[in-house]
Amino acid sequence: MSDITKLILDDHDSFRRRFAALDDANGVDELRAIWEPLAAFLDLHAVAEEEVFYPNLLRRGDDAEDETVDAVGDHNDIRDAVHEAERHPIDSDEWWKAVHDARMANSEHMAEEEDEALADFRRNASAELRDDLGRRFAEFKKAHPGARDLDTGDKDPQGYVNEVEAGFEGHSEGSLGIGSLKGQ
Ligand SMILES: [Fe+2]
Ligand SMILES: [Fe+2]
Repeated sequence: MSDITKLILDDHDSFRRRFAALDDANGVDELRAIWEPLAAFLDLHAVAEEEVFYPNLLRRGDDAEDETVDAVGDHNDIRDAVHEAERHPIDSDEWWKAVHDARMANSEHMAEEEDEALADFRRNASAELRDDLGRRFAEFKKAHPGARDLDTGDKDPQGYVNEVEAGFEGHSEGSLGIGSLKGQ
């Protein structure tokens, strides 16, 4: 069972639980043990969606361009807050503010992604494709532990859509290579 829309929901559930765990953590060491993997996972999840999910939504969705522009803009807001937190000592006021901003931006984004982009994709993609993409999504995450080797900087939302759609020319179904997006 590797339907990409289910794997994305699983990641979202994990985000909610890990943010909740911060509420119960005591002291810098406990906060760090939760936050550092969560921060890396937020970065990795966004890039994995941009590599595997959104290009395929753009091929098939009913309202895919708007949903994708919104999503990449939201991913930028989440990335900005995650990276802002990394500039401050854990448990400082500035750190808590940035973590709160990341949590709020992420919660808002997950609701929209679940109710619009994922719903759109389920209506328009076969079970086989959803499973195939789920495997690719899982493999991508496994290949980039901690997201350390990835470009986790912001992307221009419309530029991302344009570049993905330009890549559709001359590529057969499923062979879209968007490695060139890295570092744009
Ligand atoms: Fe997501
Ligand atoms: Fe997302």
